[in-house]
Amino acid sequence: MKDNKSSDKFETAKPQRMSGARRLAWAAGLGIVLFGVGYAIDSSGLLSFSFTSQKTGTTQIGNAVYTREAMESDRGTHSKDRTTPTASTPVGSDGYYLPPSEKSIPETPYGDAVRRGRAIFLETPSQVSDHVGNTLSCVNCHLDAGRRENSAPMWGAYVRYPAYRGKTKSISTLEDRITGCFTYSMNAQASPSGKPPAAGSDVYRDLMTYFYWMSDGAPTGEKMPGAGYPKVKKPEQGYDLIRGGKVYAQNCALCHSADGQGQRDSESGVVFPPLWGPDSYNWGAGMARIDTAAGFIKANMPLGKPFSLTDQEAWDVAAYLNSHERPKDPRQTGTLEEARLKFHKDEESYYGKEVSGKIVGGGVSHEQSLARAVERSD
Ligand code: HEC
Ligand code: HEC
Repeated sequence: MKDNKSSDKFETAKPQRMSGARRLAWAAGLGIVLFGVGYAIDSSGLLSFSFTSQKTGTTQIGNAVYTREAMESDRGTHSKDRTTPTASTPVGSDGYYLPPSEKSIPETPYGDAVRRGRAIFLETPSQVSDHVGNTLSCVNCHLDAGRRENSAPMWGAYVRYPAYRGKTKSISTLEDRITGCFTYSMNAQASPSGKPPAAGSDVYRDLMTYFYWMSDGAPTGEKMPGAGYPKVKKPEQGYDLIRGGKVYAQNCALCHSADGQGQRDSESGVVFPPLWGPDSYNWGAGMARIDTAAGFIKANMPLGKPFSLTDQEAWDVAAYLNSHERPKDPRQTGTLEEARLKFHKDEESYYGKEVSGKIVGGGVSHEQSLARAVERSD
């Protein structure tokens, strides 16, 4: 879509398609034999931590110790009698914030904006086609529609902006931060417009309305448990591509394919997102850093088995992913070495370094992959 709104298009978004992909993911994870069982459990809602939550929109993590209903009730009491305690933050028994259920999105113009924002989050390439240069959606890296703890959830982000960021050496608003994800994670340079949505665009307005709705009751200024991705300390043995390749083959290739290009299905599009190559995030993305990717992977991958890899495995496989070529860092205007010194010097990354005798970081586009294929066939 264009920057200006096209609400009827948003309404045609099909959330069922996501749960179809999710079911497939589970099937792949648990084995085809378990598919039927998985489906049954999925429908019955027994797997409270599972991707069922995508369908119902409820993150059910244990028994809530302070429910949203309690919050609403305390709000009511407090507004009538200022001497009673103010409402607090809804949390589950595991201590994580409880975002509101998708079913509670109101049937109002505000609710419509929330639903549009949610659709953009789940189906970014089709909803914002002018500004997305790869096949990823926001939800691929911010799981469960941006609700999952330890997956940089949007409720953890909403309450912590504006904030100073080292990456830009300036104050970032939440909109700036989303612009950053379009620029790098969504590789906007390869999109039809060649750039992220313009400042003030309805794309940001709708996304931020969705995040605001999800953060109702979350305290501002606090780093809540489960916000961001966890930090995984660099192991004593550092990281290694041979070990990483083995971890990949054993735990990841089933879904993301041996060549890292993921899997598509002609009807529903991307089922398993690509991890490198022209359709992935670019070299400027946070996920291209080995430490950041290790944190995401440790807490979220393999899908459905959070925290199952050791720290060593998470670092090794993160290094393996990020040793492959991907779209160029859009900030690179001069040489690769200049960009390395300017933007990548102090980070854990292969940018501008040698991998199997080749310097990586120069980038890869669809045109380049095609040209190479032709070269080989000559
Ligand atoms: C390839 C994975 C990826 C995709 C796709 C992606 N992001 Fe992110 N996002 C990240 C990473 C990694 C960070 C952490 C920031 C860092 O370390 O640079 C982040 C951070 C954020 C933050 C700040 C979170 C915080 O807690 O401070 C917001 C907001 C955000 N992303 C929104 C979006 C939106 C909206 C989209 C879709 C338009 C999107 N992201 C797509 C990887 C991704
Ligand atoms: C059962 C299937 C499955 C397995 C196994 C799996 N993934 Fe994923 N992975 C997914 C799905 C599906 C997503 C997108 C999540 C979403 O949209 O909810 C994803 C997202 C990702 C992303 C962020 C999006 C992107 O394309 O960059 C990374 C990075 C990633 N996986 C790495 C790994 C690694 C590393 C392993 C092995 C340790 C692994 N995955 C194992 C299914 C899987």
